[in-house]
Amino acid sequence: MKPTVVATVGEVRRSVADARRRGLNIGLVPTMGALHEGHAALIRAARAATGFVVVSVFVNPAQFGPHEDLQRYPRPLENDLDLCGREGADLAFVPEAATVYPPGFHTTVEVTGLQDGMEGRARPGHFRGVATVVLKLFHMVQPDVAFFGHKDGQQARLLRQMVDDLNVPVEVRVCPTVREPDGLALSSRNVYLDEEQRREAPAVYAALREGQALIERGERDAASVRRALAARVEATLGAVLDYAEVVDAKTLQPIEEIAGEVMLALAVKFGTTRLIDNVIVRAPE
Ligand code: PAJ
Repeated sequence: MKPTVVATVGEVRRSVADARRRGLNIGLVPTMGALHEGHAALIRAARAATGFVVVSVFVNPAQFGPHEDLQRYPRPLENDLDLCGREGADLAFVPEAATVYPPGFHTTVEVTGLQDGMEGRARPGHFRGVATVVLKLFHMVQPDVAFFGHKDGQQARLLRQMVDDLNVPVEVRVCPTVREPDGLALSSRNVYLDEEQRREAPAVYAALREGQALIERGERDAASVRRALAARVEATLGAVLDYAEVVDAKTLQPIEEIAGEVMLALAVKFGTTRLIDNVIVRAPE
């Protein structure tokens, strides 16, 4: 069964208020559509934890750079609604850009520091767009719990900080990355990969696992791990390294010595397709 689909703030607020009156708590899964098993896992987590699940589908122009893939970003809305229905979402919120950003829109949100490295450096303004739209979605939908994927590790960390810093009354839950059997993290952008690129793309996760293994075997020099990540990617046919980072999992700042929880993060281009992935590793004491 397809979920109810609404496009305006008034409609989404009415549905959510009605569910709340029925004693249900509200879960929100923000997405840009082109839904896959990674999104499905978030919807299932929401289903398990809340009584009324809203999935937002909005390709947010504010988080795309001028030369990025906003125009060609996949928008298979009917399939997305089918998936929402199969996974038991109650409501799909599919606003128009003019609803989210009406003429005269002026306010943005920045999570300084956390937004600067990795994706933020590679994509200037990206996290301003993400934080702004997610805070707006929180205000429009007013969920109790919101669900994000670890796949976008910097995004998840930054949104948690935003919620803490601005006393937003929404609990943020971060769910594990869903992968193909060969390790490739599911992504709406994987459809851009041609056959050969798809064959080589699992190298991204393989590199992260190798970095993880180095740390687990006692490597404490972050630069060595960074070099190992980069070397593994650079040895991959058709892969062009965008960045290889070893950062503190909390501050997201590059580190010299590995201690506590660290994030290993990669951005790799295959042709015009840019893939990101990360793992968190706890260095043994
Ligand atoms: P999108 O890329 O559609 O992802 C929506 C959510 O699904 C994000 O929380 C993302 O981390 C999660 N996700 C994507 N692939 C995943 C995978 N393989 N395993 C687990 N979770 C996965 O991220 C965005 O949209 C946008 O930035 C958004 C937060 C919606 C703001 O516009």
